[in-house]
Amino acid sequence: MEPNANTDNYEHLTLPDTDGTVDERIDDLVKTLLLQGEVPSSSPTMVLLGQYGHLGGLAATQMLARQAKFSAEDIVLDVCCYVGGPARYLAATTGCRVVGVDRDEKSIAIARRLTALAGCQDRVSFLVGDLYQVHQCPQRYTGIWSEGSLDNSLDWLPVLDAVLLPGGTLAITLCVRAAEDAPPHLPHSLDDVVRRLVEADYRIVHCEDLRVWEIEHAWKELLRELDAREDYYTRMCGADWVTEARERFHSEMAIWSTQAGCALIVARKPAG
Ligand SMILES: C[S@@+](CC[C@H](N)C(=O)[O-])C[C@H]1O[C@@H](n2cnc3c(N)ncnc32)[C@H](O)[C@@H]1O
Repeated sequence: MEPNANTDNYEHLTLPDTDGTVDERIDDLVKTLLLQGEVPSSSPTMVLLGQYGHLGGLAATQMLARQAKFSAEDIVLDVCCYVGGPARYLAATTGCRVVGVDRDEKSIAIARRLTALAGCQDRVSFLVGDLYQVHQCPQRYTGIWSEGSLDNSLDWLPVLDAVLLPGGTLAITLCVRAAEDAPPHLPHSLDDVVRRLVEADYRIVHCEDLRVWEIEHAWKELLRELDAREDYYTRMCGADWVTEARERFHSEMAIWSTQAGCALIVARKPAG
């Protein structure tokens, strides 16, 4: 775990001079950085999602936060935090402290700058590191949070369990198997994940299959955003990019509805 990423500190970054809220301007700044290749994945999906790098964007973060119910007393580890959108949201809305960890140095350097621009660096900090190494840090957390990033192997469970304090809350979304013909990298269904947590003595506070919600509110929202700001994306990326993005969202949505899904799970570790 590296507290200081050995990369550009991005101090030159400023918010675009537009009318939006700070959050909206951070989103547009992230989109520009993605298109400049500053962040590894510049897929159309990631570009449209901006600082909330998971399907469903801010709405999905709000949904998970409602179930996680963190408060100002909590110290939360955001695993695979990317550029820190959810980490800043949690700190701003609950007053908790958040430590984000991601293995991508550039994402962390950008996350730090965006957090300074948002003015919440007193409660949100970041580490460069692999999720499978987090147990090597002495810090323990009352909450673990991760959106759209944990792999379906479930190998992360003992690692995250090691850094979650007794009585702490695990709040995650992850891709799950939704049909027999699902791709091989998705061996586990929502029921499998829940069973594994129960076997580890966790109490399930909330679990939900987000498949229908994601089609209606995530993929279709990406298409609506593309339609609503078509001029903006055409200016930034070109007309071909916009056409390809639209086709891609339609085909991804079709796969999503039949083979794969997203699970939302909030579970409590035994008090010890
Ligand atoms: C799809 S993005 C999710 C972003 C973030 N959770 C959010 O909601 O905005 C996946 C992120 O996971 C990070 N990542 C993937 N595998 C990782 C690992 N083993 N350890 C740490 N970070 C990892 C990537 O660098 C990337 O930033």
